[in-house]
This record gives sequence, C-alpha cells and structure tokens, in this order.
Amino acid sequence: MAKAWSGRFAEPVSDLVKRYTASVFFDQRMAPQDIRGSLAHAKMLARQGIIAQDDFAAIERGMAQIAAEIAAGTFVWNLDDEDVHLNIEKRLIALIGDAGKRLHTGRSRNDQVATDIRLWLRDGIDSIDTLLSDFIRALLDVAAQHAATPMPGFTHLQVAQPVTFGHHLLAYVEMLRRDRERFVDCRKRVNRLPLGAAALAGTTFPIDRAFVASELGFDCICENSLDAVSDRDFAIEFCAAASLVMVHLSRFSEELILWMNPRVGFIDLADRFCTGSSIMPQKKNPDVPELARGKSGRVFGHLMGLLTLMKGQPLAYNKDNQEDKEPLFDTADTLIDTLRIFADMVTGIQVKPEAMAAALRQGYATATDLADYLVKKGLPFRDAHEAVARAVRTAELKGCDLADLSLTELQDFSPLVGDDVFGVLSVVGSLAARDHPGGTAPNQVMAAIVRLRTTL
Ligand code: ARG
Repeated sequence: MAKAWSGRFAEPVSDLVKRYTASVFFDQRMAPQDIRGSLAHAKMLARQGIIAQDDFAAIERGMAQIAAEIAAGTFVWNLDDEDVHLNIEKRLIALIGDAGKRLHTGRSRNDQVATDIRLWLRDGIDSIDTLLSDFIRALLDVAAQHAATPMPGFTHLQVAQPVTFGHHLLAYVEMLRRDRERFVDCRKRVNRLPLGAAALAGTTFPIDRAFVASELGFDCICENSLDAVSDRDFAIEFCAAASLVMVHLSRFSEELILWMNPRVGFIDLADRFCTGSSIMPQKKNPDVPELARGKSGRVFGHLMGLLTLMKGQPLAYNKDNQEDKEPLFDTADTLIDTLRIFADMVTGIQVKPEAMAAALRQGYATATDLADYLVKKGLPFRDAHEAVARAVRTAELKGCDLADLSLTELQDFSPLVGDDVFGVLSVVGSLAARDHPGGTAPNQVMAAIVRLRTTL
C-alpha cells in the first residue's frame, strides 16, 4: 500500500524505520481531537467555497462513521499509515472517495498535529482543574473536622510549636490553589489555534482562521505561522505546572508516610490504600503515598525531556516534535490518577488526636509562648528567650514538660512569672493566642475554611 507521500521516493522504508518513525500507536488517543479539527477545517473550506458543500457533507458522514468505529474498537490502526492523522484520512478516503482527498486542502500535518495536541491538552487541563478542586474540597472537609485538633508543628522535623491538624492541611490547600492558578494561566496559551499555518508559511487558499478558531473554542489564533507549527512551549509549561503539583503531593505523601509510621502514629490510612508484606505479617505499608512520591520523578523527567526536545530546534517544524506526545500524555495520566486517588484517600484518613497530643507533651512546644509571655510583661525578647532556654534545660533534666514545673521553679528563671503562666503553657492557650488571619487559632482555621469553600 503506497504511503501518503511516497510519490517522490524510489525505495520503501525498512520495517525498522517504519516502526521508528511511526507515532500511530501512541497518538491514536488524539483521534477525537483530530476528527474535531478536521470537521472545523472542512466546514471552513466549504464556507469559503474552497470545497463544495456536498464534499463537506460527505466528510461529516465519513467522520461520523470513523468516530463510531474507533469508539467501538473496530477501527484498524495501521503502522504503514504512520500516525493518527494519516490513518483517519486514509479511512475517510476509503469511505467517501474524492471528497476525502479534498480534506487536506490548505492544511498540513504540521498545523494539524499542533491543533490536535492543543485540543487534547485543553481537555486534560479542564479535567485536572476539576480534580484539583475535588481534592481541595476533600482536604477542607477533613480540616473542618480538625480545626481545633492540636498536633505538633515541626521545623527541622522536630517539634516546634502547636498547630491544629486542620491548619496543617490548609497549608496544602494553599499549594493546590496556586497549582490551579498555574493551570488556568497555562490554558490561556494552550488555547490558541495553529491551524491555517499549514506546513510553515501559511496557505494560498482564502481560509478563515478566525472561523475555525471559534468553531473549536479557541480564544484566538497563533499569530505567526512558523511559530504555530513549531513551538511546544505550552506543553512544557503544562509539565512544569504538573511537576509543581507532584512536588506538593510528594511532600504530602512524605508526611502521610511519617504520620502513619507506628512510632509516630498520628494517623491511619484506610486499608484500601495500603498493602501487606509477603513475608512480614505485621506490615501495613503506605504504598499509595510512596508511589505518588516516586511518580513525581517521572513527571519531572518528562519536563526535562520536553525542554531538551525543544532546545536548539531550528524553525519551523522538525520531526523531533513527534516526541512531545508520550511525555505529555504520561504527565497528564499520572497527575489525573494521582489526584483522583488522593481526593479519596484524604477522606479516609483516620486521625489519632491522642498520639498528636502525646507528641506535643514531649517537645516543649509552648516554649515560645512562655518567651512571648515574658516579653508582654516587659522583658526584652532576647532575655526572655534566654530565660526560657534555661527553663527548658531544667525541665529536660527533670524529664518533664514546662507546664509540669511549679510556679516557684518557673519564677527562678524570671521573677516576672505569675500564676497566669499556666494558661500560656497549655496547648489550647497557645493555639488560641495565634489569633490572626493565617494563624493556627481554631477560630481562624474555621474562618479560613469558610472563606476557601466559597472559592471552589
Ligand atoms: N506524527 C507527526 C507528529 O507527531 C505529525 C506531523 C508530521 N509532519 C511531518 N512533516 N512529517 O509530529
């Protein structure tokens, strides 16, 4: 069977080269976008009198059948026809004859593929946006249940100050909200129409690009034909935004793994997200967070791959760009699956407030509160810091918490200490005192949740 471009060639390509240069086995998933793009192009050609209305009607009919065949799994994808574009075009010609041969008028696979990827990625971004918002909603629900549940906040992975578990979760909500913003912003640059650029220089036919753009829901056209067919910066941006989501999810994963460790025991994950060991009967391993942490690597790799793919390419289209698809698809697939699982997983987190409280009792988490207390009584902060450091040393030697020292013992470190000090040393008092927007006071956490829910 002759290749679509074989007229000028004296010998056929070898089987190895055929396989090496083909993309049909991974780009066939863009078939719905390819058909959509072709229909918009054909409609415009007919409107402009470049092809006959009857041809357009035949193309619509043929494409409807092809779409049905693909959906039913009966469409035969053929390696000889290289990619999704030529496979569909060939089938169209088999179904409707000459009208099918007219479809490619004023178009090239170069602007066709760039259009297909943008349509595909736009759908991907929209799914991701929905999933991010589902995940945020799930986090907010758990945060609302634990707006007042004390846990140790950490710096350097050591107990630092009390926070609430709800407040801790809201930190991730903020990260994910910025992730959403990045995708919304990226979508603006994805949603521009390359079609009409043809191979690289535009076309001699009187096309109407604005019409095609509006048919396909693009915000505008790509303004320069050379740029339209060649740059994949929008895909790189997408992978960068996806990489940052994976950074955030890997941080969250790391915490889930740590919290679930029997030595910490702050939470338990539902059994359906964990697996056992084939040899150690006691194990319940946090496989899902570990895998999410690991899968961040492949997403960062795809970002690096696409940057390297694009770097140094001369204008305009080069076959290098065919390599953009697998990393892009895998990035979107990985992110979509991970977000789906996480929204479900956080809902099933079983929080263990007693373990969090026990950890708080061991880390002198209210030492800063004691220093602030002394400052409010008139001591300069540096002196207060020193006095409290000595108190912590004494408590450490005695093996007790600051709150377990007696009033007279505390007064040894500063005469400014009064019997109101114990309210300050309590976890509840410490939390309630951080009462400003962005602080961990339970009423502030609850107010933040209410505010954040209105943004979804
Ligand atoms: N399969 C190709 C790709 O993914 C389509 C464009 C081919 N264009 C060309 N001039 N060979 O980039």
